[in-house]
Amino acid sequence: MNYYLPHPVPLYGPDFAQDPHAVYARLRQYGPLAPVAIAPGVPAYLVTDYRVALDLLKDTTTWSKNPSEWQKTLPPDSQVLPMMKWRPNPLFNDGPDHARYRSVITDSFSRVEPHRLRAQVAHAADTLIRSFAATGDVDLVTQYARPLPLVLFNNLFGMPDSYSDRLVTALAGLMEATSPQEATRANADFEQYIAELIALKTKQRGPDLTSWFMDHPAGLSTEEVLHQIVLTMGAGHEPTTNLISNALSRMLSNHAYYSTLSSGALTAKDAIEDVLRHEPPMANYSAHFPRQNVHFHGTWIMANQLVLVSYAAANAAPDGLPAGAVPTGGGAHLAWAAGPHACPVKQPALLIATTAIERLTSHLCDLELTTAREQLSWRPGPFHRALAHLPARFTPLTPDQAGVTPWTSSSPFSSTPQAATSSAKHVG
Ligand code: HEM
Repeated sequence: MNYYLPHPVPLYGPDFAQDPHAVYARLRQYGPLAPVAIAPGVPAYLVTDYRVALDLLKDTTTWSKNPSEWQKTLPPDSQVLPMMKWRPNPLFNDGPDHARYRSVITDSFSRVEPHRLRAQVAHAADTLIRSFAATGDVDLVTQYARPLPLVLFNNLFGMPDSYSDRLVTALAGLMEATSPQEATRANADFEQYIAELIALKTKQRGPDLTSWFMDHPAGLSTEEVLHQIVLTMGAGHEPTTNLISNALSRMLSNHAYYSTLSSGALTAKDAIEDVLRHEPPMANYSAHFPRQNVHFHGTWIMANQLVLVSYAAANAAPDGLPAGAVPTGGGAHLAWAAGPHACPVKQPALLIATTAIERLTSHLCDLELTTAREQLSWRPGPFHRALAHLPARFTPLTPDQAGVTPWTSSSPFSSTPQAATSSAKHVG
């Protein structure tokens, strides 16, 4: 029986990024909960068993999502705080507060019609494909999967297309900053973008997520609106990028997919299901804190101690799945978590990833990786399963060539007012 965290296993170094399943196998030797460190000096318990994960995710009496007490034990400059500190949004609240914030996000996304979302993703995809189509080379992570959700969010939140570069650059700066100064500048750029977004929509509402957040019956304050926007962009960006790039890496390195890009049996949806089950884009998260000391599946956990769920380990646990839950078509998995905090945007996220992959592979039909999948590098970090790069090549396209190209097939669903960009009004 564990009372403290003996020799926590690090989840933040290159060893874990290189071969997470070797680390999960080691962690399973501790039983269903293992002692880990998510950063130097930041211990946690990690649940690696499917049933135990469900026990935790569904039991809101024992477990809280509110990190307020736990975060007091960390130094103020701890690297995990930006991802884990309390904010007024669904992720860090329980009960009625959770339900109120979550309803704003679910109700607003339910107003995004799937056919319109598909067209908006196609528009974002074509915009990005145009930027590299003539070169014949692309890094599918940095030039496609990473910017795509942001180009899309810029549109979904109701900003003109001319703003999307600012959003992409600010968030790339946040992720890739090599000095605190760079990170501070990128953060200031992101805050400025959000401030302008809120100012614009305060003046003039539109058919967009920002306006729906503002006018939702939950009656959010301006500060709360800001936090729901930041959460949606934060929670939506990284896992969607990883879902697209992990699926593309599988499709382009497995002949069963590759030979079928135009004609075969396995599709983008199969690759996505495969990723959700075997390589979930969020590998470990669902931070929970026991409301009081608890004896949980053989381990004593003190009140407010951090416990995380490993979706990746639970999905892979050889005998962890409930009887009958290993059906055809991939089987049960926890890639979206479970219980009241399970991802509320699952269907739109699936549609976004599928459309992004289909759009890319239909325009660049001879796309191939230039580095074998086994040689690809993964970004270190405890939470995500994220490729650093995905280099590929293809026959270049040009704007004047015949047939459907990213220049000719763009959708009419840009948020940029047509009158401001279209030359059609001059015709005739
Ligand atoms: C448009 C894209 C997405 C948006 C806007 C989004 C939004 C959100 C939000 C707001 C939450 C918090 C819900 C709550 O606490 O009640 C959440 C949770 C979650 N999402 Fe998503 N999500 C997106 C895509 C994805 C993808 C692609 C995955 C991975 C397959 C994913 C996995 C999760 C997981 C595992 C949680 C639970 C996190 C936790 O409780 O710690 N999401 N998502």
